[in-house]
Amino acid sequence: MTRKLFVTTALPYANAAFHIGHMMEYIQADIWVRFQRMQAEGDGLREVHFVGADDTHGTPIMIAAEKEGITPQEFVAKIAAGRAQYLDGFHIAFDNWYSTDSPENVELSQGIYVKLREAGLIQTKTVDRFFDPVKGMFLADRNIKGECPKCHAKDQYGDNCEVCGAAYQPTELVNPFSVFTNATPILKPSEQYFFKLSDPRCFTFLRDWLNTPGRLQPEMVNKVSEWLGEAGEKLADWDISRDAPYFGIPIPDAPGKYFYVWLDAPVGYLASLKNYCGKKGIDYDALLADEGTEQIHFIGKDIVSFHLLFWPAMLQFAKHPTIDRMKVAVHGHLTVNNEKMSKSRGTGISPLRYLNLGMNPEWLRYYLAYKLNSRVEDLDFTGDDFVARVNSDLIGKFVNIASRCAGFIAKKFDGKLASELSASSQEWIKKALVAEDGTERQASIAANFDSREFGKALREIMEIADVANRFVDENKPWVLAKDETKVAELHDVCTTALILFRQLTILLSPVLPGVATNVRSFLNDAAYTWADTSLASGAAYQPLLGRTIGAYSHLMTRVDAKMIEDLFDAPAQQAAAAAAPAAVADAAPAALDAPAAGDIEELAPEISIDDFSKIDLRIARIVNCEHVEGAGKLLRLTLDVGEGRYRNVFSGIKSMYKPEDLVGKLTVMVANLAPRKMKFGVSEGMVLAASAKDEKANPGIYVLNPWPGAEPGMRVR
Ligand code: MSP
Ligand code: ZN
Repeated sequence: MTRKLFVTTALPYANAAFHIGHMMEYIQADIWVRFQRMQAEGDGLREVHFVGADDTHGTPIMIAAEKEGITPQEFVAKIAAGRAQYLDGFHIAFDNWYSTDSPENVELSQGIYVKLREAGLIQTKTVDRFFDPVKGMFLADRNIKGECPKCHAKDQYGDNCEVCGAAYQPTELVNPFSVFTNATPILKPSEQYFFKLSDPRCFTFLRDWLNTPGRLQPEMVNKVSEWLGEAGEKLADWDISRDAPYFGIPIPDAPGKYFYVWLDAPVGYLASLKNYCGKKGIDYDALLADEGTEQIHFIGKDIVSFHLLFWPAMLQFAKHPTIDRMKVAVHGHLTVNNEKMSKSRGTGISPLRYLNLGMNPEWLRYYLAYKLNSRVEDLDFTGDDFVARVNSDLIGKFVNIASRCAGFIAKKFDGKLASELSASSQEWIKKALVAEDGTERQASIAANFDSREFGKALREIMEIADVANRFVDENKPWVLAKDETKVAELHDVCTTALILFRQLTILLSPVLPGVATNVRSFLNDAAYTWADTSLASGAAYQPLLGRTIGAYSHLMTRVDAKMIEDLFDAPAQQAAAAAAPAAVADAAPAALDAPAAGDIEELAPEISIDDFSKIDLRIARIVNCEHVEGAGKLLRLTLDVGEGRYRNVFSGIKSMYKPEDLVGKLTVMVANLAPRKMKFGVSEGMVLAASAKDEKANPGIYVLNPWPGAEPGMRVR
């Protein structure tokens, strides 16, 4: 049977540009897809259809569009228009990029729903829902805020408290209000459509589906088994409907009701495939019905319940043909310098900034691949580590082989490679390409790519590179080149080195497609397939023997550590622009009279902009504030500086503010101050506040509060 692959990545919300976490997922999937496309299948190469799309529906996008005064469609189109520069920029080779707001998705989602209804798995229930009487709209949990019923922190969302972590129903909030209008929500009964996940058929199916060997990672099988419970008793029905106004797909025969976004979002995978098939003249139904077609979804760990409970159950009971041939590959999350990134804001590293700085996209592909494995583990991007890994492996070990040998072939041999190899060179090739157990390394490298153990695959490739470098070091072509009697040896050594270099290029080509293309044209090779790496068939060396190759031009430069600084920090010109207002103040307009001098504290000695930039000031949100027992002046503040964790800071402002006045407010803090151990705990920074020189005349302490628009984590400069 001919294997065919239908591969997707999660469909990103169309409410923001890609962040570096998205790029990680796409790079992982793209490497896997490129590897699969190199495999022999039937009398050609394996057929892979790799598609993505924007996830467009739901309340947040509807509201965001409304704020900008445009339609949701216009809003989504703006986001979609920005996708290509990221995907092309990082060599992500989707066959199709589409949208869940599409005719195919409407037809497919409604079709699946109707089949679920026919299977007796749709049920309506009337439930009380919060309703904003001013906006005339039902409210999602996240659209409602109020006081936490447990710790009484103010300004908490309707589903859980960010201060104490409690989870609750929005009905439990104290003094709830609508985030849109501040109106007090009222409870209004509404008929909702449920997918009956509690039906015993769902449990039986899911249990067997999950436990099919090779379908899911073991840790995922365990996790989802826990969710199922012993006999499915933990499975609750899933509310798949939302009331108008809602940006979504209408539910058939249910006026004013729309599918909850997570119902139609995964159907978007199929919609994108169908749209692509239409464009390519491929028979969509036949492709899915084909027993050889496998469906693989790459997703992150945060959306597992949707992909391992609801989605397979939907497909099963809608009789989707590939359900038995579907796999889900779950990855952990990327952190940057060990900081979690927020879903909406991303992190310090912007993928576009990376590209605009002239950083090579294949550095990032290699670095992330090196850190990826098949487990659901988080991985961290660290600047120093990135520089060291790329420079040592890609430049020091890989590119170096070609740059040390190619020149001699051009100069001394008119670009022609040797027609045969010495016995010693043949031995070296074997030493490089065959493992101790006698098997070819390309085979275990292939197995590791196939099972998403990319780190292992790359470590083994680098072992080949190590042998290749030892070969060059020991045979010293630069010495041979000086000796007229050693011409044949020089030819032999440089040819062998380039054979190994070509082998490394092919093995690395799923990760470094751009480099592979350049090497191909330098060596006058055809498109690479995995069969080209076989030593047994001779494919790994024969094609190069006696061939005339092109001129070598440099394939890749080293990472300059300075680039990493620029990647994280504001560019120099921004710092200069921030300093500019001081210069303007010197030339105050003549028409203004000098202001009266007050009794102010003497200015501190002058500092340079560099001195100033050592102080990292950040916008912080005061998420909680409380009295400190036994401390006369202090308040304990819990601050969110956008880092994905909270900071504890003590501040001597008790005389001025009641804790409840401060909760929810933004302020400015010194974020890189060494933590200080105090009697009441560790203080992790300092909040900025103004006070007078003469404390008796004015004992006030005034906390800074930024202008509207500032957000936690923004740097103050
Ligand atoms: N729209 C949903 C998915 C619908 S799939 C039918 C969604 N979108 S998302 O934009 O928030 O996330 C898209 C993908 O990016 C998810 O797989 C998510 O796990 C992944 N990532 C988000 N942050 C990430 C990291 N920090 N690291 C790696 N992947 C990350 O969820
Ligand atoms: Zn709380």
